Amino acid sequence: MNKICLVGAGRVGEAAAQVLAKEEICQELVLVGVHEGAAQGAALDLMESAPLFAFDTQVRGGISLDAVAGADIVVISAGMARRPGMSRSDVLDANAPIVARAAQSVGALAPHALIVVVTNPVDVLTHLAWSQSGLPRARVIGLSGTLDAARMAGFIAAESGLSVRDVRALVIGGHGDTMIPLPRYSTISGIPVGEFLNEAAMARVVERTRGGGAEILALKKTGSAYDAPGAAIATMVDAVARNRRRILPCVCVLDGEYRESGVAIGVPAVIGAGGVERIIELTLTPAEQQQFHRSADAIRTDLARVDITPGPP
Ligand code: 2OP
Repeated sequence: MNKICLVGAGRVGEAAAQVLAKEEICQELVLVGVHEGAAQGAALDLMESAPLFAFDTQVRGGISLDAVAGADIVVISAGMARRPGMSRSDVLDANAPIVARAAQSVGALAPHALIVVVTNPVDVLTHLAWSQSGLPRARVIGLSGTLDAARMAGFIAAESGLSVRDVRALVIGGHGDTMIPLPRYSTISGIPVGEFLNEAAMARVVERTRGGGAEILALKKTGSAYDAPGAAIATMVDAVARNRRRILPCVCVLDGEYRESGVAIGVPAVIGAGGVERIIELTLTPAEQQQFHRSADAIRTDLARVDITPGPP
């Protein structure tokens, strides 16, 4: 893959850039930051690690959104991170114009790109990026379940005392308080997780998963998570760049799937070179279906606060 652009040179963008550069997923990696020098400094720092990590990825930084021109993938993580006690929706008004401008730039300068939205609240802002970029919905996805399921897998490993290497977890729904961790679809070496964890332990896993981001925020106080988000971004980008056709839970714009339309929400999808190749419709229990529709309605409440009129060409 030729060029990946990371719009947002904060800790999340930098964490993703480090993994992508080391994995040599693309020839050129461009960081775009709003503060003069921030992206350039991050890029230079990464390039100075190249001899030690032995990668040939060319990393550069800048402040102009023009840098998205010709990109194959654009990751949008720019915006305000929430502070302790804030919900992800609390930063919607600050972040919507940032994501809209970035998406419009992609639509104008990189119309064949795929967009991965990270900026919160990610479900609504993935929808906004889709409407403002004019890209097909298959090529606008958001970071949610890949990160949440990783957290869930880590908590399952900790509760069971077994290797995280063998744990597969699944989380769908909104990337926030209404997210739906799915123990029924979580396994350890293919064995249903219920064989290892009792109801109380599973409840702890579900609760910690739902509060994963907030738990880190409360501990760090001055910043949110970035290592796991960076790794999750790299996982999604790798699936596209290397056409892996992986099933990854991520924010997708629905058009009838799960009996929902006109909303972007976390669902499992086959991710390959074309982005979303297929949305996987799980068989949900009535209770899970109700949780899913409730989550979609919560996202619609935030969506009503945003102007998704298609942006300038
Ligand atoms: C998180 O959950 C950044 O929303 C992301 O940490």
